[in-house]
Order: sequence, then C-alpha cells, then structure tokens
Amino acid sequence: MRVVVTGATGRTGGEVAREVAERGHDLVPVSREPSGTIAGADLRPAEDLPALLDEAAASGDAVLVDFTVPVASAEYLSAAAAAGVPAVVGTTGFNSEGTAALREAADSVPVLKASNFARGVQALLNVVREAATALPDYDVELTETHHNGKRDAPSGTANTLLDELDDAREDALDRTYGREGEDPREPGQVGVHVRRAGTVRGEHEVMFADNDEVLSLTHRAESRGVFAAGAVDAAEWLAGREAGWYEFGDVIGDGGDDGV
Ligand SMILES: NC(=O)c1ccc[n+]([C@@H]2O[C@H](COP(=O)([O-])OP(=O)(O)OC[C@H]3O[C@@H](n4cnc5c(N)ncnc54)[C@H](OP(=O)(O)O)[C@@H]3O)[C@@H](O)[C@H]2O)c1
Repeated sequence: MRVVVTGATGRTGGEVAREVAERGHDLVPVSREPSGTIAGADLRPAEDLPALLDEAAASGDAVLVDFTVPVASAEYLSAAAAAGVPAVVGTTGFNSEGTAALREAADSVPVLKASNFARGVQALLNVVREAATALPDYDVELTETHHNGKRDAPSGTANTLLDELDDAREDALDRTYGREGEDPREPGQVGVHVRRAGTVRGEHEVMFADNDEVLSLTHRAESRGVFAAGAVDAAEWLAGREAGWYEFGDVIGDGGDDGV
C-alpha cells in the first residue's frame, strides 16, 4: 500500500512515517519544507501534494495520513478527495468550518478521523460512559496534560471525553475551564483543567466524586508510537472502503469517537 504522510517532519507525523516504513508500505512523506529523508524516503513538497496523490491513486492502493494543523489538514483532505484517495486524520482542534471541510471530503472518499489513536483511549471512552451513567449525581472533573508544544486546548481527546459525558448524562454538563478567585463549584458543572509541560505525550484523567469516595479514570500515552501504530492500523483498515465517515472505534470494533 502507498501511504502519503503529511506533516512528516512533525512529532507525530514523523512517527507515522517510521511506522509505515517499518510495516513495509511504500512511504511518501510530505512536508512544507522538504529537505532530506525520513525513514529512507525523500521528503516531498506539500505544494506537489495533488500530483503525489494522483500518482498514489494510480497505484491502486493508497491512503493519506495527516497529522498537521486544522487549516492545512482541511486543504490536504480536499486534495485527497479530488484524487480519490482515502484519508486518516489525526489532527485535532478543528472549528466547525474545518470539520465541515472534512465531512465534505467524506462525500467522495473514505475519511477516518480520531482525536486519539490509542486503543486504551477507546476503552476509556466506554468506561467513562459507564461510570457517568452509574453515578449520575457525582461531580465530574477532567484534567489533561500534554507537552509544551501542543497548540490546541483542551485536547481533542478531552473534548471527545466531554461529549461522551454529555451523552451519558440526562443534561449536558456546563463546561467550566479552570477556576479562579471566588468561583465555587455549581451543580451540573464539569471542570476542565489543562496542563502544558515538558514532553508529556498525553494524559487524561476523568474524576467522579461524591458520597465520600473518588473514582479516577486515567489514560497515559507513554510514547507517540502508540498514536502512530493506531493511525497506520486505521490506514490499513480504511483502504478500499466505501466513501463515508469512519471512526477509530470502527477499526477496533468498539463504538465511535467523533471528537474534533
Ligand atoms: N489523533 C491522535 O491520536 C493524535 C496524537 C498526537 C497528536 N495529534 C494531533 O496531531 C497534530 C500534530 O501534532 P504534533 O504534535 O505532531 O505537531 P507538530 O510536531 O507541530 O507537527 C505538525 C506538522 O504539521 C505541519 N504543518 C502543515 N501546515 C502547517 C502550518 N500552517 N503550521 C504549522 N505546521 C504545519 C508541519 O510539518 P511540515 O512542515 O513538515 O509540513 C508540522 O511539523 C495536532 O493537531 C495534535 O493534536 C493527534
């Protein structure tokens, strides 16, 4: 399979490129500033992406994997749709316009978007849903921690977890981003706390508390390889599917994740 990787010089895109090569796929790494090689393949200029995708489509078995920024991702997805190449999107932080662009691409090609390609996070989503249903009156607080280079806050995964909580509770929770000064907790709130420091790959904790007890559910990614492996699993699964919108839960047969 030919795998075109955009953002190939990025932290996660680089890991994806290495995973693609390790699995023996034909790697086409793409960058806005191509210079040198990655995992033995020459970096190719992002401005050539439409032609690279046309070539990849002609090979008969191709997928685009994108870990970039929303504005670039939306543009890259349009190019994939024009070339007829399925796309896996790991980029997070889309606004409604960006999400609409991805959804539009999914009218012509299969698009799989996930805010988190770790299998443990898929399990966490299920467990959080169960806990929120079993403990309908407990206070909920969410804390996420990422490395100091992360752009969007809260993380896409945090937003997906918040959506899951809303689905499980009768009334949507009021998202309260941090607290300061005279700011007591109100019923129906979910506190959302964001930390950015060092090289932390990604940590999410959902805490339920009441009745003199605390239930704390935590996922911690210990390397970016986790996301890269999940994204390449998704790419292998997506190739050859019908046009439409897919989620990582479809790949591991475990329900959905529609976070943006
Ligand atoms: N879904 C998941 O499991 C998962 C896991 C980790 C990260 N992520 C998400 O993946 C995205 C990338 O994260 P990262 O930590 O790999 O970021 P990063 O190290 O900053 O890499 C992003 C890459 O995007 C490319 N890019 C294209 N257009 C750009 C623009 N206008 N401005 C800046 N960069 C641009 C750059 O590569 P070139 O210069 O080579 O084009 C850059 O290296 C983020 O949205 C992050 O939240 C998702």
